[in-house]
Amino acid sequence: MKTGSTKRKKPSTEFNLANYDKECESFSWGSVEREIGWQSGAPVNIAKSCVDRHVREGKGDRQALIFLKDTGSQVYTYRDLEKLTNRFANTLKKLGIRKGERVALFLPSIPELYISLLGVVKAGAVAIPLNNKYMSDTVKGFLEDSNPSLVITTSQLYERISGTGVKFIVVGDDGENGWYRLLSNSDDNPDPTELMNREDPLLLLYTSGSTGNPKGVIHVHEGALQYYKTGQWALDLKEDDVFWCNADPGWITGISYGIWAPLLNGVTTLVYNGPFEADKWYNILERNRVSVWYTTPTFLRLLMSAGARVAKKHSFRSLRKILSVGEPLNPIFNRWSQATFNLPIHDSWWMTETGGIMIANFSCLPVKPGSMGKPVPGVNAAIINESGEELLPLEMGQLAIKAGWPAMMRGIWNDSEKYGHYFVMPPWYLTGDLAYRDYEGYFWFQGRIDDVLKINSERVGPFEIESKLVEHPAVLEAGVIGKPDPLRGEIIKAFIVLDSHYSWSEELKQEILHFTSSKLAPHLVPEEIEVCSRMPRTRSGKLMRRVLKSWELGIPYSDLSS
Ligand code: PRX
Repeated sequence: MKTGSTKRKKPSTEFNLANYDKECESFSWGSVEREIGWQSGAPVNIAKSCVDRHVREGKGDRQALIFLKDTGSQVYTYRDLEKLTNRFANTLKKLGIRKGERVALFLPSIPELYISLLGVVKAGAVAIPLNNKYMSDTVKGFLEDSNPSLVITTSQLYERISGTGVKFIVVGDDGENGWYRLLSNSDDNPDPTELMNREDPLLLLYTSGSTGNPKGVIHVHEGALQYYKTGQWALDLKEDDVFWCNADPGWITGISYGIWAPLLNGVTTLVYNGPFEADKWYNILERNRVSVWYTTPTFLRLLMSAGARVAKKHSFRSLRKILSVGEPLNPIFNRWSQATFNLPIHDSWWMTETGGIMIANFSCLPVKPGSMGKPVPGVNAAIINESGEELLPLEMGQLAIKAGWPAMMRGIWNDSEKYGHYFVMPPWYLTGDLAYRDYEGYFWFQGRIDDVLKINSERVGPFEIESKLVEHPAVLEAGVIGKPDPLRGEIIKAFIVLDSHYSWSEELKQEILHFTSSKLAPHLVPEEIEVCSRMPRTRSGKLMRRVLKSWELGIPYSDLSS
Protein backbone atom coordinates (compact mmCIF):
# COMPACT_ATOMS: atom_id res chain seq x y z
CA MET A 1 0.00 0.00 0.00
CA LYS A 2 1.43 3.38 -1.02
CA THR A 3 0.38 6.98 -0.97
CA GLY A 4 0.65 9.21 -4.03
CA SER A 5 0.19 8.96 -7.77
CA THR A 6 2.18 7.82 -10.80
CA LYS A 7 2.43 8.97 -14.40
CA ARG A 8 0.42 6.89 -16.80
CA LYS A 9 0.10 6.37 -20.51
CA LYS A 10 -2.97 7.69 -22.28
CA PRO A 11 -5.24 4.75 -23.14
CA SER A 12 -5.47 3.93 -26.82
CA THR A 13 -8.49 5.30 -28.65
CA GLU A 14 -9.51 2.20 -30.58
CA PHE A 15 -12.69 0.71 -29.20
CA ASN A 16 -12.68 -2.78 -27.70
CA LEU A 17 -15.93 -3.44 -29.49
CA ALA A 18 -15.20 -2.28 -33.00
CA ASN A 19 -17.94 -3.95 -35.04
CA TYR A 20 -21.21 -4.40 -33.18
CA ASP A 21 -23.12 -6.36 -35.85
CA LYS A 22 -20.27 -8.75 -36.52
CA GLU A 23 -19.83 -9.51 -32.83
CA CYS A 24 -23.58 -10.10 -32.44
CA GLU A 25 -23.44 -12.71 -35.19
CA SER A 26 -20.44 -14.68 -34.01
CA PHE A 27 -20.03 -14.12 -30.26
CA SER A 28 -20.57 -16.81 -27.65
CA TRP A 29 -19.99 -16.42 -23.90
CA GLY A 30 -17.91 -19.60 -23.86
CA SER A 31 -15.17 -17.79 -25.78
CA VAL A 32 -14.59 -15.40 -22.85
CA GLU A 33 -13.36 -18.01 -20.35
CA ARG A 34 -9.84 -18.18 -21.74
CA GLU A 35 -9.53 -14.38 -21.60
CA ILE A 36 -9.87 -14.48 -17.80
CA GLY A 37 -7.66 -17.54 -17.41
CA TRP A 38 -10.44 -20.10 -16.94
CA GLN A 39 -10.38 -23.55 -18.44
CA SER A 40 -13.36 -25.57 -19.55
CA GLY A 41 -14.70 -27.74 -16.79
CA ALA A 42 -12.06 -26.62 -14.26
CA PRO A 43 -13.04 -25.02 -10.93
CA VAL A 44 -12.70 -21.25 -10.58
CA ASN A 45 -12.79 -18.36 -8.13
CA ILE A 46 -13.71 -14.88 -9.33
CA ALA A 47 -11.58 -13.19 -6.63
CA LYS A 48 -8.50 -15.03 -7.88
CA SER A 49 -9.24 -13.96 -11.45
CA CYS A 50 -9.67 -10.37 -10.25
CA VAL A 51 -6.48 -10.16 -8.21
CA ASP A 52 -3.95 -13.04 -8.21
CA ARG A 53 -4.12 -13.54 -11.98
CA HIS A 54 -2.62 -10.09 -12.61
CA VAL A 55 0.20 -10.74 -10.13
CA ARG A 56 0.96 -14.05 -11.84
CA GLU A 57 1.04 -12.24 -15.18
CA GLY A 58 3.69 -9.83 -13.92
CA LYS A 59 1.34 -6.92 -13.25
CA GLY A 60 1.46 -7.02 -9.45
CA ASP A 61 2.80 -3.45 -9.17
CA ARG A 62 -0.09 -1.98 -11.08
CA GLN A 63 -2.43 0.15 -8.99
CA ALA A 64 -5.69 -1.69 -8.39
CA LEU A 65 -7.63 0.52 -6.00
CA ILE A 66 -7.07 4.13 -5.06
CA PHE A 67 -9.08 5.41 -2.10
CA LEU A 68 -9.36 9.18 -2.37
CA LYS A 69 -9.27 11.16 0.81
CA ASP A 70 -9.19 14.86 1.44
CA THR A 71 -5.69 14.32 2.80
CA GLY A 72 -3.90 12.35 0.05
CA SER A 73 -4.90 8.96 -1.23
CA GLN A 74 -4.39 5.35 -0.27
CA VAL A 75 -3.17 3.12 -3.08
CA TYR A 76 -3.38 -0.67 -3.20
CA THR A 77 -1.53 -2.48 -5.96
CA TYR A 78 -2.72 -5.83 -7.25
CA ARG A 79 0.07 -7.43 -5.17
CA ASP A 80 -1.08 -5.60 -2.01
CA LEU A 81 -4.58 -6.82 -2.66
CA GLU A 82 -3.46 -10.38 -3.20
CA LYS A 83 -1.64 -10.45 0.13
CA LEU A 84 -4.34 -8.72 2.13
CA THR A 85 -7.22 -10.72 0.71
CA ASN A 86 -5.27 -13.95 1.32
CA ARG A 87 -4.71 -12.90 4.88
CA PHE A 88 -8.32 -12.06 5.38
CA ALA A 89 -9.47 -15.34 3.83
CA ASN A 90 -7.07 -17.20 6.16
CA THR A 91 -8.54 -15.23 9.08
CA LEU A 92 -12.03 -16.35 8.10
CA LYS A 93 -10.89 -19.94 7.85
CA LYS A 94 -9.38 -19.76 11.35
CA LEU A 95 -12.70 -18.46 12.56
CA GLY A 96 -14.28 -21.58 11.14
CA ILE A 97 -15.97 -20.05 8.08
CA ARG A 98 -16.45 -22.77 5.48
CA LYS A 99 -17.28 -22.89 1.80
CA GLY A 100 -20.89 -21.89 1.12
CA GLU A 101 -21.44 -20.14 4.47
CA ARG A 102 -22.65 -16.57 4.33
CA VAL A 103 -20.74 -13.52 5.58
CA ALA A 104 -22.42 -10.10 5.68
CA LEU A 105 -20.51 -6.86 5.11
CA PHE A 106 -22.14 -3.86 6.72
CA LEU A 107 -19.48 -1.27 5.94
CA PRO A 108 -19.00 2.05 4.15
CA SER A 109 -16.75 2.20 1.03
CA ILE A 110 -13.50 1.91 2.95
CA PRO A 111 -10.54 -0.29 1.94
CA GLU A 112 -11.57 -2.86 4.57
CA LEU A 113 -14.83 -3.43 2.69
CA TYR A 114 -13.03 -4.30 -0.56
CA ILE A 115 -10.43 -6.48 1.19
CA SER A 116 -13.09 -8.25 3.24
CA LEU A 117 -15.35 -8.88 0.27
CA LEU A 118 -12.58 -10.35 -1.86
CA GLY A 119 -11.34 -12.35 1.15
CA VAL A 120 -14.81 -13.76 1.80
CA VAL A 121 -15.04 -14.84 -1.83
CA LYS A 122 -11.55 -16.39 -1.77
CA ALA A 123 -12.58 -18.38 1.30
CA GLY A 124 -15.46 -19.78 -0.77
CA ALA A 125 -18.11 -18.04 1.33
CA VAL A 126 -21.05 -16.03 0.01
CA ALA A 127 -20.72 -12.28 0.55
CA ILE A 128 -23.75 -10.22 1.54
CA PRO A 129 -22.97 -6.51 1.05
CA LEU A 130 -25.44 -4.42 3.06
CA ASN A 131 -25.95 -0.76 2.25
CA ASN A 132 -24.55 1.24 5.18
CA LYS A 133 -27.39 3.75 4.88
CA TYR A 134 -29.89 1.15 6.06
CA MET A 135 -31.23 1.58 9.55
CA SER A 136 -31.61 -1.07 12.19
CA ASP A 137 -34.99 -2.61 11.25
CA THR A 138 -34.04 -3.04 7.59
CA VAL A 139 -30.62 -4.55 8.26
CA LYS A 140 -31.99 -6.83 10.93
CA GLY A 141 -34.62 -8.02 8.43
CA PHE A 142 -31.87 -8.89 5.92
CA LEU A 143 -29.80 -10.66 8.58
CA GLU A 144 -32.80 -12.66 9.70
CA ASP A 145 -33.53 -13.69 6.12
CA SER A 146 -29.96 -14.63 5.20
CA ASN A 147 -28.76 -15.98 8.57
CA PRO A 148 -25.03 -15.26 8.04
CA SER A 149 -22.30 -16.94 10.12
CA LEU A 150 -20.53 -13.61 10.57
CA VAL A 151 -21.04 -9.88 10.05
CA ILE A 152 -18.17 -7.48 9.37
CA THR A 153 -18.99 -3.94 10.39
CA THR A 154 -17.61 -0.77 12.00
CA SER A 155 -17.98 0.31 15.61
CA GLN A 156 -20.46 3.04 14.55
CA LEU A 157 -22.62 0.73 12.43
CA TYR A 158 -22.50 -2.06 14.99
CA GLU A 159 -25.21 -0.33 17.02
CA ARG A 160 -27.73 -1.04 14.27
CA ILE A 161 -27.20 -4.80 14.44
CA SER A 162 -26.64 -5.28 18.15
CA GLY A 163 -29.04 -7.73 19.73
CA THR A 164 -29.21 -9.98 16.66
CA GLY A 165 -26.93 -12.56 18.28
CA VAL A 166 -24.89 -12.94 15.08
CA LYS A 167 -21.08 -13.20 15.37
CA PHE A 168 -19.20 -10.12 14.21
CA ILE A 169 -15.82 -8.56 13.40
CA VAL A 170 -15.43 -4.83 13.90
CA VAL A 171 -13.23 -2.48 11.87
CA GLY A 172 -11.91 0.20 14.20
CA ASP A 173 -12.05 -1.93 17.33
CA ASP A 174 -8.84 -3.03 19.10
CA GLY A 175 -10.42 -5.91 20.97
CA GLU A 176 -10.40 -9.59 20.08
CA ASN A 177 -13.13 -9.02 17.49
CA GLY A 178 -11.08 -6.23 15.91
CA TRP A 179 -10.55 -6.55 12.15
CA TYR A 180 -6.89 -5.45 12.31
CA ARG A 181 -6.04 -7.61 15.33
CA LEU A 182 -7.45 -10.69 13.57
CA LEU A 183 -5.70 -9.83 10.32
CA SER A 184 -2.34 -9.37 12.02
CA ASN A 185 -2.64 -12.86 13.48
CA SER A 186 -2.99 -14.41 10.01
CA ASP A 187 -0.64 -14.88 7.10
CA ASP A 188 -1.08 -14.59 3.35
CA ASN A 189 0.28 -18.13 3.09
CA PRO A 190 -0.89 -20.77 2.43
CA ASP A 191 -3.09 -19.69 -0.46
CA PRO A 192 -6.56 -19.86 1.08
CA THR A 193 -8.47 -19.75 -2.22
CA GLU A 194 -11.26 -22.29 -2.43
CA LEU A 195 -11.85 -23.61 -5.89
CA MET A 196 -15.48 -23.27 -6.78
CA ASN A 197 -17.95 -24.64 -9.22
CA ARG A 198 -18.91 -21.86 -11.63
CA GLU A 199 -22.52 -22.17 -10.46
CA ASP A 200 -21.63 -21.82 -6.76
CA PRO A 201 -23.14 -18.77 -5.05
CA LEU A 202 -20.93 -15.72 -4.83
CA LEU A 203 -23.16 -12.92 -3.59
CA LEU A 204 -26.49 -12.33 -1.97
CA LEU A 205 -27.75 -8.83 -2.75
CA TYR A 206 -30.85 -7.34 -1.24
CA THR A 207 -33.09 -5.20 -3.40
CA SER A 208 -36.61 -3.85 -3.32
CA GLY A 209 -39.81 -4.86 -5.03
CA SER A 210 -43.29 -3.47 -4.59
CA THR A 211 -44.10 -5.88 -1.75
CA GLY A 212 -42.35 -5.83 1.59
CA ASN A 213 -40.45 -9.10 1.92
CA PRO A 214 -36.67 -8.91 1.59
CA LYS A 215 -35.48 -10.06 -1.80
CA GLY A 216 -31.99 -11.58 -1.63
CA VAL A 217 -30.77 -11.98 -5.20
CA ILE A 218 -28.24 -14.80 -5.63
CA HIS A 219 -25.31 -14.38 -8.03
CA VAL A 220 -22.67 -16.97 -8.95
CA HIS A 221 -18.99 -17.08 -10.01
CA GLU A 222 -19.93 -17.70 -13.67
CA GLY A 223 -21.03 -14.04 -13.82
CA ALA A 224 -17.33 -13.14 -14.16
CA LEU A 225 -17.57 -13.80 -17.90
CA GLN A 226 -20.08 -11.00 -18.28
CA TYR A 227 -18.57 -8.55 -15.78
CA TYR A 228 -15.31 -8.85 -17.67
CA LYS A 229 -16.72 -8.64 -21.18
CA THR A 230 -19.15 -5.79 -20.50
CA GLY A 231 -16.25 -3.99 -18.81
CA GLN A 232 -14.47 -4.30 -22.14
CA TRP A 233 -17.36 -3.59 -24.45
CA ALA A 234 -19.74 -1.21 -22.67
CA LEU A 235 -17.18 0.57 -20.44
CA ASP A 236 -14.47 0.15 -23.11
CA LEU A 237 -11.88 -0.45 -20.36
CA LYS A 238 -8.23 -0.75 -21.38
CA GLU A 239 -5.25 -1.65 -19.21
CA ASP A 240 -4.08 1.93 -18.66
CA ASP A 241 -7.43 3.37 -17.78
CA VAL A 242 -8.20 5.19 -14.58
CA PHE A 243 -11.77 4.23 -13.93
CA TRP A 244 -14.22 5.81 -11.53
CA CYS A 245 -17.57 4.25 -10.69
CA ASN A 246 -19.12 6.58 -8.15
CA ALA A 247 -21.69 4.01 -6.96
CA ASP A 248 -21.42 2.61 -3.44
CA PRO A 249 -20.94 -1.18 -3.14
CA GLY A 250 -24.17 -1.23 -1.10
CA TRP A 251 -25.79 -1.14 -4.56
CA ILE A 252 -24.92 -3.75 -7.18
CA THR A 253 -23.43 -1.15 -9.55
CA GLY A 254 -20.69 -0.54 -6.97
CA ILE A 255 -19.90 -4.26 -7.01
CA SER A 256 -20.31 -5.47 -10.60
CA TYR A 257 -18.72 -2.27 -11.97
CA GLY A 258 -16.95 -0.91 -8.88
CA ILE A 259 -15.10 -4.18 -8.22
CA TRP A 260 -15.54 -7.12 -10.61
CA ALA A 261 -15.39 -5.46 -14.04
CA PRO A 262 -12.42 -3.14 -13.42
CA LEU A 263 -10.37 -5.71 -11.48
CA LEU A 264 -11.03 -8.48 -14.00
CA ASN A 265 -9.79 -6.04 -16.64
CA GLY A 266 -6.73 -5.12 -14.58
CA VAL A 267 -7.41 -1.37 -14.54
CA THR A 268 -7.01 1.21 -11.77
CA THR A 269 -10.20 2.06 -9.92
CA LEU A 270 -10.91 5.11 -7.80
CA VAL A 271 -13.07 5.00 -4.70
CA TYR A 272 -14.41 8.15 -3.10
CA ASN A 273 -16.42 7.88 0.06
CA GLY A 274 -17.29 11.52 0.77
CA PRO A 275 -20.41 13.62 0.35
CA PHE A 276 -21.29 15.21 -2.99
CA GLU A 277 -19.94 18.59 -3.87
CA ALA A 278 -19.77 19.68 -7.51
CA ASP A 279 -16.28 21.18 -7.35
CA LYS A 280 -14.97 18.10 -5.57
CA TRP A 281 -16.45 15.83 -8.24
CA TYR A 282 -14.86 17.82 -11.06
CA ASN A 283 -11.60 17.81 -9.13
CA ILE A 284 -11.66 14.04 -8.83
CA LEU A 285 -12.14 13.71 -12.58
CA GLU A 286 -9.43 16.24 -13.38
CA ARG A 287 -6.68 15.57 -10.82
CA ASN A 288 -6.79 11.80 -11.03
CA ARG A 289 -6.97 11.90 -14.80
CA VAL A 290 -10.07 9.73 -14.88
CA SER A 291 -10.48 8.28 -18.36
CA VAL A 292 -13.70 6.28 -17.94
CA TRP A 293 -16.46 7.37 -15.57
CA TYR A 294 -19.56 5.36 -14.68
CA THR A 295 -22.19 7.44 -12.92
CA THR A 296 -25.93 7.96 -12.47
CA PRO A 297 -28.46 10.60 -13.53
CA THR A 298 -28.70 11.59 -9.85
CA PHE A 299 -25.10 12.83 -9.83
CA LEU A 300 -25.35 14.25 -13.34
CA ARG A 301 -28.38 16.30 -12.29
CA LEU A 302 -26.52 17.63 -9.25
CA LEU A 303 -23.55 18.64 -11.40
CA MET A 304 -25.79 20.21 -13.98
CA SER A 305 -27.63 22.27 -11.37
CA ALA A 306 -24.33 23.51 -9.91
CA GLY A 307 -23.96 25.54 -13.11
CA ALA A 308 -21.40 25.91 -15.87
CA ARG A 309 -19.14 28.24 -13.89
CA VAL A 310 -17.99 25.47 -11.52
CA ALA A 311 -17.22 23.17 -14.45
CA LYS A 312 -15.31 25.85 -16.38
CA LYS A 313 -12.58 25.95 -13.72
CA HIS A 314 -11.55 22.43 -14.71
CA SER A 315 -10.25 20.62 -17.75
CA PHE A 316 -11.00 17.00 -18.45
CA ARG A 317 -8.39 16.08 -21.03
CA SER A 318 -8.05 12.46 -19.88
CA LEU A 319 -11.75 11.73 -19.82
CA ARG A 320 -12.79 9.74 -22.88
CA LYS A 321 -15.97 7.92 -21.87
CA ILE A 322 -18.91 8.72 -19.59
CA LEU A 323 -21.62 6.19 -18.83
CA SER A 324 -24.83 6.36 -16.87
CA VAL A 325 -27.16 3.80 -15.32
CA GLY A 326 -30.07 3.34 -12.97
CA GLU A 327 -32.63 5.89 -14.13
CA PRO A 328 -33.80 7.37 -17.40
CA LEU A 329 -31.17 9.57 -18.99
CA ASN A 330 -33.10 12.39 -20.64
CA PRO A 331 -31.61 13.95 -23.82
CA ILE A 332 -30.91 17.15 -21.90
CA PHE A 333 -28.04 15.35 -20.13
CA ASN A 334 -26.31 14.74 -23.41
CA ARG A 335 -26.56 18.38 -24.43
CA TRP A 336 -25.10 19.41 -21.08
CA SER A 337 -22.36 16.79 -21.28
CA GLN A 338 -21.29 17.90 -24.75
CA ALA A 339 -21.02 21.47 -23.50
CA THR A 340 -19.20 20.50 -20.27
CA PHE A 341 -16.96 17.58 -21.26
CA ASN A 342 -17.16 17.65 -25.03
CA LEU A 343 -18.36 14.05 -24.77
CA PRO A 344 -21.70 12.28 -25.04
CA ILE A 345 -23.07 10.21 -22.16
CA HIS A 346 -23.49 6.53 -22.91
CA ASP A 347 -26.56 5.23 -21.15
CA SER A 348 -26.67 1.60 -20.02
CA TRP A 349 -29.51 -0.52 -18.71
CA TRP A 350 -29.52 -3.46 -16.33
CA MET A 351 -30.92 -4.61 -12.99
CA THR A 352 -29.75 -6.19 -9.73
CA GLU A 353 -31.29 -9.40 -11.07
CA THR A 354 -29.43 -9.29 -14.41
CA GLY A 355 -26.11 -8.94 -12.56
CA GLY A 356 -24.42 -7.01 -15.35
CA ILE A 357 -25.04 -4.59 -18.21
CA MET A 358 -27.57 -5.90 -20.74
CA ILE A 359 -28.24 -2.91 -22.99
CA ALA A 360 -25.83 -0.06 -23.69
CA ASN A 361 -24.80 2.70 -26.04
CA PHE A 362 -21.51 1.35 -27.37
CA SER A 363 -18.64 3.59 -28.38
CA CYS A 364 -18.61 2.20 -31.93
CA LEU A 365 -22.28 3.14 -32.51
CA PRO A 366 -23.91 6.56 -32.66
CA VAL A 367 -25.49 7.60 -29.35
CA LYS A 368 -29.21 8.28 -29.61
CA PRO A 369 -29.88 10.68 -26.73
CA GLY A 370 -32.77 9.36 -24.62
CA SER A 371 -32.26 5.74 -25.66
CA MET A 372 -30.69 3.04 -23.49
CA GLY A 373 -28.86 1.67 -26.52
CA LYS A 374 -28.64 -1.83 -27.97
CA PRO A 375 -28.31 -5.26 -26.32
CA VAL A 376 -24.82 -6.48 -25.42
CA PRO A 377 -23.73 -9.08 -28.03
CA GLY A 378 -24.75 -12.44 -26.57
CA VAL A 379 -27.86 -10.91 -24.93
CA ASN A 380 -31.20 -11.45 -26.59
CA ALA A 381 -33.62 -8.65 -25.59
CA ALA A 382 -37.16 -8.16 -26.86
CA ILE A 383 -40.37 -6.24 -26.25
CA ILE A 384 -43.22 -8.60 -25.52
CA ASN A 385 -46.98 -8.39 -24.93
CA GLU A 386 -48.97 -9.96 -22.09
CA SER A 387 -48.91 -13.35 -23.84
CA GLY A 388 -45.15 -13.35 -24.27
CA GLU A 389 -45.27 -12.60 -28.01
CA GLU A 390 -42.64 -10.31 -29.46
CA LEU A 391 -43.92 -6.90 -30.51
CA LEU A 392 -42.97 -4.90 -33.57
CA PRO A 393 -40.70 -1.85 -33.57
CA LEU A 394 -42.22 1.21 -31.87
CA GLU A 395 -44.84 -0.91 -30.03
CA MET A 396 -44.62 -0.51 -26.29
CA GLY A 397 -44.56 -3.59 -24.07
CA GLN A 398 -42.52 -5.29 -21.40
CA LEU A 399 -38.78 -5.51 -21.85
CA ALA A 400 -37.83 -9.19 -21.67
CA ILE A 401 -34.53 -11.03 -22.00
CA LYS A 402 -34.02 -14.58 -23.21
CA ALA A 403 -32.96 -16.41 -20.04
CA GLY A 404 -29.47 -17.85 -19.70
CA TRP A 405 -26.80 -15.11 -19.74
CA PRO A 406 -23.77 -15.64 -17.43
CA ALA A 407 -24.51 -12.95 -14.79
CA MET A 408 -28.22 -13.78 -14.47
CA MET A 409 -29.37 -14.26 -10.87
CA ARG A 410 -29.67 -17.92 -9.99
CA GLY A 411 -32.29 -17.60 -7.28
CA ILE A 412 -33.97 -15.49 -4.64
CA TRP A 413 -32.80 -16.54 -1.20
CA ASN A 414 -35.50 -18.48 0.66
CA ASP A 415 -38.08 -17.66 -1.99
CA SER A 416 -38.20 -19.92 -5.02
CA GLU A 417 -41.74 -18.76 -5.73
CA LYS A 418 -40.64 -15.15 -6.18
CA TYR A 419 -37.80 -16.33 -8.39
CA GLY A 420 -40.28 -18.27 -10.51
CA HIS A 421 -42.35 -15.13 -11.13
CA TYR A 422 -39.56 -13.70 -13.27
CA PHE A 423 -39.71 -16.69 -15.60
CA VAL A 424 -43.42 -17.43 -15.98
CA MET A 425 -43.28 -16.87 -19.76
CA PRO A 426 -40.47 -19.06 -21.08
CA PRO A 427 -38.02 -18.40 -22.64
CA TRP A 428 -38.25 -14.90 -21.21
CA TYR A 429 -36.90 -13.30 -18.07
CA LEU A 430 -39.42 -10.53 -17.27
CA THR A 431 -37.87 -7.23 -16.28
CA GLY A 432 -40.95 -5.32 -15.09
CA ASP A 433 -39.83 -2.39 -17.27
CA LEU A 434 -41.87 -0.91 -20.10
CA ALA A 435 -40.00 0.00 -23.26
CA TYR A 436 -40.06 -0.06 -27.04
CA ARG A 437 -37.47 -0.76 -29.69
CA ASP A 438 -36.96 1.44 -32.73
CA TYR A 439 -36.30 0.30 -36.30
CA GLU A 440 -32.53 0.42 -35.74
CA GLY A 441 -32.69 -1.85 -32.71
CA TYR A 442 -32.24 0.82 -30.01
CA PHE A 443 -34.31 0.38 -26.84
CA TRP A 444 -36.25 3.27 -25.24
CA PHE A 445 -37.24 3.09 -21.56
CA GLN A 446 -40.83 4.11 -20.79
CA GLY A 447 -41.41 3.27 -17.11
CA ARG A 448 -41.99 0.50 -14.57
CA ILE A 449 -44.93 -1.88 -14.61
CA ASP A 450 -44.97 -2.09 -10.82
CA ASP A 451 -44.84 0.65 -8.17
CA VAL A 452 -41.10 0.55 -7.48
CA LEU A 453 -39.58 4.02 -6.95
CA LYS A 454 -36.12 5.22 -7.90
CA ILE A 455 -34.57 7.49 -5.31
CA ASN A 456 -30.94 8.52 -5.91
CA SER A 457 -30.95 5.75 -8.55
CA GLU A 458 -31.65 3.19 -5.85
CA ARG A 459 -34.67 0.95 -6.00
CA VAL A 460 -37.14 1.68 -3.23
CA GLY A 461 -40.18 -0.42 -2.44
CA PRO A 462 -43.16 1.76 -1.40
CA PHE A 463 -44.26 -0.94 1.03
CA GLU A 464 -41.15 -0.49 3.21
CA ILE A 465 -41.99 3.17 3.75
CA GLU A 466 -45.73 2.63 4.16
CA SER A 467 -45.05 0.00 6.84
CA LYS A 468 -43.08 2.50 8.89
CA LEU A 469 -45.64 5.28 8.46
CA VAL A 470 -48.51 3.15 9.78
CA GLU A 471 -46.50 2.34 12.90
CA HIS A 472 -47.21 5.92 13.99
CA PRO A 473 -50.47 5.95 16.01
CA ALA A 474 -51.93 8.84 13.99
CA VAL A 475 -51.52 7.05 10.64
CA LEU A 476 -54.31 4.64 9.83
CA GLU A 477 -53.30 3.91 6.24
CA ALA A 478 -50.46 5.02 4.01
CA GLY A 479 -49.68 4.94 0.29
CA VAL A 480 -46.33 6.01 -1.14
CA ILE A 481 -45.49 7.13 -4.66
CA GLY A 482 -42.55 8.67 -6.52
CA LYS A 483 -43.34 12.29 -7.41
CA PRO A 484 -41.45 13.59 -10.44
CA ASP A 485 -38.86 16.17 -9.44
CA PRO A 486 -36.85 18.23 -11.93
CA LEU A 487 -33.65 18.03 -9.89
CA ARG A 488 -33.76 14.58 -8.36
CA GLY A 489 -35.84 12.55 -10.80
CA GLU A 490 -38.27 11.37 -8.15
CA ILE A 491 -38.99 12.30 -4.55
CA ILE A 492 -41.01 10.32 -2.06
CA LYS A 493 -44.55 11.47 -1.46
CA ALA A 494 -46.79 9.79 1.11
CA PHE A 495 -50.56 9.91 1.19
CA ILE A 496 -52.00 9.06 4.58
CA VAL A 497 -55.41 8.51 6.13
CA LEU A 498 -55.48 9.86 9.68
CA ASP A 499 -56.84 8.01 12.65
CA SER A 500 -60.09 9.74 13.69
CA HIS A 501 -58.58 10.74 17.06
CA TYR A 502 -56.08 13.01 15.35
CA SER A 503 -56.38 16.19 13.36
CA TRP A 504 -53.85 17.37 10.81
CA SER A 505 -51.38 20.08 11.71
CA GLU A 506 -47.84 21.09 10.82
CA GLU A 507 -46.78 19.84 14.24
CA LEU A 508 -48.23 16.38 13.61
CA LYS A 509 -46.58 16.28 10.20
CA GLN A 510 -43.18 17.03 11.75
CA GLU A 511 -43.79 14.44 14.42
CA ILE A 512 -44.58 11.76 11.81
CA LEU A 513 -41.51 12.72 9.78
CA HIS A 514 -39.33 12.58 12.86
CA PHE A 515 -40.81 9.20 13.76
CA THR A 516 -40.12 7.69 10.32
CA SER A 517 -36.63 9.19 10.14
CA SER A 518 -35.66 7.20 13.24
CA LYS A 519 -36.62 4.00 11.42
CA LEU A 520 -35.67 4.60 7.80
CA ALA A 521 -32.49 5.53 5.96
CA PRO A 522 -32.46 9.33 5.46
CA HIS A 523 -33.15 9.10 1.72
CA LEU A 524 -36.27 6.97 2.37
CA VAL A 525 -38.04 9.51 4.59
CA PRO A 526 -40.97 11.04 2.64
CA GLU A 527 -40.45 14.63 1.56
CA GLU A 528 -44.13 15.34 1.25
CA ILE A 529 -47.14 14.09 3.18
CA GLU A 530 -50.72 14.67 2.10
CA VAL A 531 -53.79 13.66 4.04
CA CYS A 532 -56.68 12.04 2.18
CA SER A 533 -60.01 10.80 3.41
CA ARG A 534 -59.57 7.24 2.09
CA MET A 535 -57.07 5.15 0.15
CA PRO A 536 -57.96 4.00 -3.36
CA ARG A 537 -58.14 0.21 -3.16
CA THR A 538 -59.26 -2.60 -5.44
CA ARG A 539 -62.25 -4.67 -4.43
CA SER A 540 -59.89 -7.18 -2.86
CA GLY A 541 -58.31 -4.40 -0.82
CA LYS A 542 -55.09 -3.96 -2.81
CA LEU A 543 -53.75 -0.42 -2.65
CA MET A 544 -53.85 1.27 -6.09
CA ARG A 545 -50.74 3.45 -5.98
CA ARG A 546 -51.25 4.33 -9.64
CA VAL A 547 -54.42 6.16 -8.66
CA LEU A 548 -52.47 8.10 -6.05
CA LYS A 549 -50.02 8.98 -8.77
CA SER A 550 -52.79 10.17 -11.06
CA TRP A 551 -54.15 12.37 -8.24
CA GLU A 552 -50.69 13.82 -7.82
CA LEU A 553 -50.12 14.43 -11.51
CA GLY A 554 -53.67 15.68 -12.07
CA ILE A 555 -54.34 13.28 -14.91
CA PRO A 556 -57.17 10.79 -15.32
CA TYR A 557 -56.27 7.36 -13.97
CA SER A 558 -56.96 5.64 -17.29
CA ASP A 559 -54.29 7.79 -18.98
CA LEU A 560 -51.53 6.70 -16.64
CA SER A 561 -50.12 3.91 -18.74
CA SER A 562 -48.98 6.41 -21.33
O1 PRX B 1 -36.39 0.33 -14.00
C1 PRX B 1 -35.08 0.08 -14.44
C2 PRX B 1 -34.12 1.10 -13.85
O2 PRX B 1 -33.58 0.51 -12.69
C3 PRX B 1 -34.14 -0.80 -12.49
C4 PRX B 1 -33.11 -1.67 -11.86
O3 PRX B 1 -32.79 -1.15 -10.61
P1 PRX B 1 -31.58 -1.73 -9.78
O4 PRX B 1 -31.77 -3.19 -9.63
O5 PRX B 1 -31.43 -0.93 -8.55
O6 PRX B 1 -30.39 -1.41 -10.74
C5 PRX B 1 -29.22 -2.05 -10.57
C6 PRX B 1 -28.19 -1.71 -11.61
C7 PRX B 1 -28.48 -0.62 -12.51
C8 PRX B 1 -34.56 -1.22 -13.86
O7 PRX B 1 -35.53 -2.24 -13.82
N1 PRX B 1 -33.04 1.39 -14.78
C9 PRX B 1 -31.81 0.86 -14.82
N2 PRX B 1 -31.09 1.41 -15.82
C10 PRX B 1 -31.90 2.28 -16.44
C11 PRX B 1 -33.15 2.27 -15.79
N3 PRX B 1 -34.18 3.03 -16.18
C12 PRX B 1 -34.00 3.82 -17.25
N4 PRX B 1 -32.84 3.89 -17.94
C13 PRX B 1 -31.76 3.14 -17.57
N5 PRX B 1 -30.62 3.23 -18.23
